[in-house]
Amino acid sequence: ARLAAEEALGRLVRDVPDFPQPGIVFKDITPLLADPEGFRAVVAALAEAGRDADGRPVVDKVVGMEARGFIFAAPVALALGVGFVPVRKAGKLPGETHAVSYALEYGEAVLEVHGDGLVPGERVLVIDDVLATGGTARATVELVGACGATVTGMAFLMELSFLPGRATVGDVPLTVLTVV
Ligand code: PRP
Repeated sequence: ARLAAEEALGRLVRDVPDFPQPGIVFKDITPLLADPEGFRAVVAALAEAGRDADGRPVVDKVVGMEARGFIFAAPVALALGVGFVPVRKAGKLPGETHAVSYALEYGEAVLEVHGDGLVPGERVLVIDDVLATGGTARATVELVGACGATVTGMAFLMELSFLPGRATVGDVPLTVLTVV
C-alpha cells in the first residue's frame, strides 16, 4: 500500500507555482482525487497509521481538519471501522465546542471541535493532507486534549521539508507518505 501511495503522490499531485500568492508552490491534490486507484492507495496507506502489526485498529476515532483533511480522514475512518470527527474553522459547528486559536503567516485563525465529539480516554488518529508550519496540527492536538482524548498518531500525505512542522507538533508519532 505504501509504495503504491508514494507512486500515486509522485504522479498525481501537481505543483502550481505562485498560488495562492507569489513565491508559494501550491500542492494541488485534485488529480489524485480524480484517480480512484491512486486515491484508494493513499487512503489505505494512511489507515496503516491506525493499525497494529497484525492489522487490527488501535484507535477509537479519526479526526480530520477542514477542508482538505476531511477528504482523506473520512475514508480512513471507514477503513478502520471507527467514527470520524471534524475539526472545523470557527463558527461552523452548531454544538458546544472547544476552540483553539493558532498563528497564520499573517494574523491568526480559530479551529473548533464539538466538546462531545470525543470521549475522555479515546485514542485518536489525526489525518490531514499537508504538514507545513504545523500550526493546524498542533491546534488539533490541543483540541483533542481539551476533550480528554489523546492523539496517538498523525498521518499526512505530504510534509514540507523546509518548514518546521515536525518540531511544532512535538512528540506525537508521525507518518508522512512523502516529503517534498
Ligand atoms: C492547509 C492544509 C493543512 C494546513 C497545513 O489547509 O490542508 O490543513 O494548511 O498548514 P500548517 O501546517 O502551516 O498549519 P488550509 O488552511 O489551506 O485550509 P483548506 O484545507 O480549507 O484549504
